Amino acid sequence: MAASTPALHEALLHAASSLRTQRVEELFDSTSERATRYRCSAAGLTLDFSKHLLDDSAWQRLLELADIESLPEAFSALVGGELINRSEQRPALHTLLRGTASSQHPEKSQEAQATLTRMQDLVQAIHSGQSTGCTGKRFTDVINLGIGGSDLGPRLAYDALKGFDAPVQAHFVANIDPEDLDRTLAPLNPETTLVVICSKSFSTEETLSNAKRASEWLRSAAQPGEALGRHLIAVTTQVEQAGEWHIPPERCFPLWDWVGGRYSVWSAVGISIALGLGWSTFQRLLEGARRLDEHTATTLPDANLPMAMALLEIWQTHYLGANTHVVLPYAQKLAHLPDFLQQLTMESNGKRVSPKGQPIEHDSAPVLWGSAGTIGQHSYYQLLHQGTRSFSADIIIPLRSGKGDIKARRALAAHALAQSRALMVGRSAEDARALGAQRGFDETTSRQFELPGNRSHSLILMSEVSPECLGALIAAYEHKTYFLAVLLGINPFDQWGVELGKEIAGQIRELLASGKSEAELDPATIAAASAWREANAD
Ligand code: F6P
Repeated sequence: MAASTPALHEALLHAASSLRTQRVEELFDSTSERATRYRCSAAGLTLDFSKHLLDDSAWQRLLELADIESLPEAFSALVGGELINRSEQRPALHTLLRGTASSQHPEKSQEAQATLTRMQDLVQAIHSGQSTGCTGKRFTDVINLGIGGSDLGPRLAYDALKGFDAPVQAHFVANIDPEDLDRTLAPLNPETTLVVICSKSFSTEETLSNAKRASEWLRSAAQPGEALGRHLIAVTTQVEQAGEWHIPPERCFPLWDWVGGRYSVWSAVGISIALGLGWSTFQRLLEGARRLDEHTATTLPDANLPMAMALLEIWQTHYLGANTHVVLPYAQKLAHLPDFLQQLTMESNGKRVSPKGQPIEHDSAPVLWGSAGTIGQHSYYQLLHQGTRSFSADIIIPLRSGKGDIKARRALAAHALAQSRALMVGRSAEDARALGAQRGFDETTSRQFELPGNRSHSLILMSEVSPECLGALIAAYEHKTYFLAVLLGINPFDQWGVELGKEIAGQIRELLASGKSEAELDPATIAAASAWREANAD
């Protein structure tokens, strides 16, 4: 850990080794009120961590860790606007985009506010029909072209919240595989479709390739000389380059280098949410995140929700041996949450050295995965219940689960709670023997019915999948990710690891086009490239 003392580390190791011999359900017996004490709440979310293999003494040690590593001060540095993105010498001020004031950068708040006002004006002009496509028809659809942070956040929020109001249908295209765009365009009418080119750098190959193809599609329906710019919106730090695409200045929205791509859903990157669901829904999303910021800034570590999430992850990964973290939202509306969190957590904290180049002492972020319940129950939950791999989990349950069939919604909640309990209690050897006997198995073969249980996990109860609660949930994971980076001693706001693949793709593109490459490539790559060339010779 960045600054933790060897004594504290030893104490945590000791706590973990003694807890490993205990059962979580017995901890419930020994600590009265465990279910109500091991929880914290904020902004419509409750984190219940009573089902972790954790006791009061270990929890106190983790709180000491938060203190030694100055997590509250680190949060003040984030929202205050200090240069915490050290490798790039920038602040990381995504909190400011949702109205959390930065003491050091009032001018940035003004810029963000001015951009929000411009976004609102354009969104309202489009919804009212004042701004139309070039043949005068109202817009019915918007396609967000972006990837990574310029795609996953808006995709998650739109899919989670659609149905609140849907003045325009939103679509999301990220993959450079032409299939992604072609399938999206097929049912759409270019006369009534808006395209948002969403790229912080305005140099991402996937997005520019899709933008070029989408512009050609738009042009196919326009009269010569018509201003296609009426169908385009750009969101980028490179506003001048966007101008080269003939996008009128009032449709170019700035991003800033002080907002990381994967933290940017609160900026104009979220314009497709506002276009798809209405301005007030977008504002409510921001408000939920702001409330979570306020909670994080003003709450002591023992009741601080994202801090607890980070401490629990350190506990699970560094002391109890978990190397993956599974996120199980029991809400179809949150189906895209694991994808979003993969980028947020693994692009942020999948790093092996500190900004000063020092190797980190422990493992980096765990692999994050998951999917909306109950689908996984019929697939990978077998491994969760009986596999040999160690993991931690978040089971997310919206309490007010929306409208529609109450029986089905009750069944969904029952499955969520049942899985949580099954992960904790497992099935004892005795119960396995009894079950085996009923089926005619002997004692040895009955062992296949044993489930170890004791699988640590959190329940995250959300009041409902409302814009506010979703904003708070995303912000909670953002802050958890940041606190973990502080604990690990790494910079969560850069991503140097993704550059090499882009560089080599350039060399291989040349090989696929001409059969030659100036770069020295290995024989297996050359063979696969020539197989591809042969298959695409016509
Ligand atoms: O290559 C990784 C990455 O830079 C992500 O960090 C980012 O969210 C994504 O690509 C898209 O980048 P841009 O918004 O600049 O197109």
